[in-house]
Amino acid sequence: MSQRKILVTSALPYANGPLHMGHLVEYIQTDIWVRFQKLSGNKCTYVCADDAHGTAISLHAEKQGITPEESVARINVERVKDFGEFHVEFDNYHSTHSEENRQLSESIYLALKEKGHIASRNIVQAYDPEKNMFLADRYIKGECPKCGAKDQYGDNCEACGATYSPAELKNARSAISGATPIEKESEHFFFKLSDFDGFLKEWTRSGTISDEIANKLAEWLDTGLQDWDISRDAPYFGFEIPGEPGKYFYVWLDAPIGYMAAFENLCARRDDLDFDDYWKKDSQCEVHHFIGKDIVNFHCLFWPAMLHGANYRTPTRVNVHGYLTVNGEKMSKSRGTFITARTYLEHLDPEYLRYYYAAKLSSRIDDLDLNTDDFIQRVNSDLVGKVVNIASRNAGFIKKRFDSTLSATDIAPALTAEFQAAASRISDCYEGRDFGKAMREIMALADKANAWIDEVKPWVVAKQEGKDQELHDICSTGINLFRLLMIYLKPVLPAMAEKAEAFLNVEPLTWQDSQHILTDHGVNNFTPLMTRVESDKVAAMIEASKEVLAKMSEAAKETEKEAASSSQWLEKEPVADEITFDDFAKVDLRIAKIVNAEHVEGAGKLLRLTLDIGEDKPRNVFAGIKSAYAPEALVGKHTVMVANLAPRKMKFGVSEGMVLAAGPGGKELWILEPHEGAQPGMRVM
Ligand code: 2FM
Ligand code: ZN
Repeated sequence: MSQRKILVTSALPYANGPLHMGHLVEYIQTDIWVRFQKLSGNKCTYVCADDAHGTAISLHAEKQGITPEESVARINVERVKDFGEFHVEFDNYHSTHSEENRQLSESIYLALKEKGHIASRNIVQAYDPEKNMFLADRYIKGECPKCGAKDQYGDNCEACGATYSPAELKNARSAISGATPIEKESEHFFFKLSDFDGFLKEWTRSGTISDEIANKLAEWLDTGLQDWDISRDAPYFGFEIPGEPGKYFYVWLDAPIGYMAAFENLCARRDDLDFDDYWKKDSQCEVHHFIGKDIVNFHCLFWPAMLHGANYRTPTRVNVHGYLTVNGEKMSKSRGTFITARTYLEHLDPEYLRYYYAAKLSSRIDDLDLNTDDFIQRVNSDLVGKVVNIASRNAGFIKKRFDSTLSATDIAPALTAEFQAAASRISDCYEGRDFGKAMREIMALADKANAWIDEVKPWVVAKQEGKDQELHDICSTGINLFRLLMIYLKPVLPAMAEKAEAFLNVEPLTWQDSQHILTDHGVNNFTPLMTRVESDKVAAMIEASKEVLAKMSEAAKETEKEAASSSQWLEKEPVADEITFDDFAKVDLRIAKIVNAEHVEGAGKLLRLTLDIGEDKPRNVFAGIKSAYAPEALVGKHTVMVANLAPRKMKFGVSEGMVLAAGPGGKELWILEPHEGAQPGMRVM
């Protein structure tokens, strides 16, 4: 078969937070597919990049008091490390804030404009008069027009589920500055998606996406496509639109172009890769995107239309996966199931997760559940109990009795042939992203190998006189069966495969190597290839993922929500969860004297409090109680504070604790006033 040339991408992660278990579903899935292609002898190139533009990224930077460029660079260092330790191996990891991307974005836009696919018109939008910026819906908060719940976002109510437009919110406020938004008109640029109506109807049914997704898109296609707003007004972290000063490309315009930019950047230092070869209209190469189901419209409508309109090839295939749940529910910080890549790595072997995800992935868009008990059980039973066991049952005899050399004879040729014949079936599963099925096929073979060893009993043969040759042949065949399984598992378990290659004393294994076996071949000492998952380590990881449960201050909540709305798979927090007595006992409550209170420039709800708790230095705490108290009314009062809350870096400075307040909110919010006699620093029991 001729060698395929394949370019593969995963969705570009936003540069505003740590990678977590949800992200990893996609990167691990893509990496397995890429490794399988490479192992099979195809020329496969895997690129990705930081998605660096947009308001969420610049606000994230502003909160840390640094520039977006600095913030993106910091996050990049962490995630490149995380990816590496999970064995997610990109051929290039670039950034959308790059020169290649600027040039490609400009030229694609200009090509679309020249063909008449760009329109412009004035629209009216909410505007923050303090920050001098337009506000996207999710940056406007107010009271729900239907049920009156406070602090709801601009497009839907978390309390009653109503959806509405930001203009309908009562007492609307900018979530960024707290100012009352005004309405303001400005010129926007639109991509005329309806020009591509016919093209998209055909493209979505041409084998590029699953029927499941095509049916979903048909709902949009059949009701008629709307123009897509591709511009944002300054200030905006992104690329300025050529010829339109003060107007920037919306982050989702240049994000997918970032795939091309990452590849172009790689081509510049690789003689064997040519940009046009992969991206020109009639390219013979393949382009495969892997994405989550939340961003299907961007990748299966806007993106192919842009490429087609600008005279580039369109993707060969867009592979869509579902969301991650942990123990049957959305990831949650309070349950400790919002697990970052780093926290996982601090406790567990990355290959456990790679195998577990592989075992549960299919080509469909069903959600994938990471069940912690099942995770422990499955990894231990399949990898340690079945696969590694085959090698360890035979390796000892080969070393001690046969000078670490495999025999010349396959004593179970039918079984070996069965293992070899499975290669094409397993290959089809990998190709079709049915990794779960591939793992089931491989484990069924492992079961057969173990059953065969149980039957031929090398440990019994070892004690019998004159059976040396038989023992040698049995153990050599066992090692060969193990080798075949390792070839099939190599896309999923690259580190374990490397250890197996060292033991087997062979060059890096390829898929084709499954069609022969090792005979008269010296091997090295066998060292344990993988240890069991220990349940206390899983528990420790969950514990480490939990956050202090004391109610967060208003401003802290804002930060959380914003992170939530811009993060790829993080869903909203459950409102109330139980905590254990031990959790409660961790909270250090102290009497604090308010020695100073003042307004905070630019913060709608916050007061800066200086609290004396009997320590050398007073504590600086931001409290969301401005609606209820004038600063002067607080000075001299006693209150109760959480003294051991980890310092939080907020937009306005570091908050070193939290004061407790009670009441329904707004004006009716009382800070607790312990009666006279309580002294600063006293513990609250
Ligand atoms: O949803 C997201 O997390 C986006 N950052 C994905 C972008 S994918 C591509 F188009 F750049
Ligand atoms: Zn409501």
